Amino acid sequence: MVDATAGLGGDAGVVAALGHEVLAIERDPDLVRLLGEAHQRIRDPEVAARITLLPGDAMELLPKLAETHGRLLAIILDPMFPPRRSRSALPPKPMQALRLLLEDRPADPLGPLLEAAFAARPRRVLLKRPPEAPLVGDRPPTFSVGSKLLRWDAWELG
Ligand SMILES: C[S@@+](CC[C@H](N)C(=O)[O-])C[C@H]1O[C@@H](n2cnc3c(N)ncnc32)[C@H](O)[C@@H]1O
Repeated sequence: MVDATAGLGGDAGVVAALGHEVLAIERDPDLVRLLGEAHQRIRDPEVAARITLLPGDAMELLPKLAETHGRLLAIILDPMFPPRRSRSALPPKPMQALRLLLEDRPADPLGPLLEAAFAARPRRVLLKRPPEAPLVGDRPPTFSVGSKLLRWDAWELG
């Protein structure tokens, strides 16, 4: 699997703990350093060995992965989404930290990142979104699952 927006590595860590190999892509240099440090602190060597960090921009790296890694099981996309102003509770601490680290960086349009994931020709693309967010692009997801806090849009690509 590929976590194309690794952030602090929460999702990549869960996927690796479930037994999958994960290629974790992150473009922000500060987060790449934090991810590297967190990787070294993973207590279970088998879980740590399943995670490979790949610094860089997923939009450039994803289309090349089909050549280097063959058919990927899934690509996970969790781009930063804006804070929900109507909520009184603060977001979880890792998300607060991410927002502080990346607050100067303008949000990218989602369409090109999603297209880059499709270009890697994986079996499945998973996109994490706010629950009320509009669908991205003109290719509707195969299905969506969600809660009050977030929604996963999934494209099954065969
Ligand atoms: C919301 S965070 C991801 C959180 C992550 N799922 C976790 O569990 O910690 C989004 C991250 O995606 C990264 N990002 C956004 N666009 C990217 C891109 N095109 N290539 C690589 N990283 C990207 C941002 O730098 C940020 O660290």
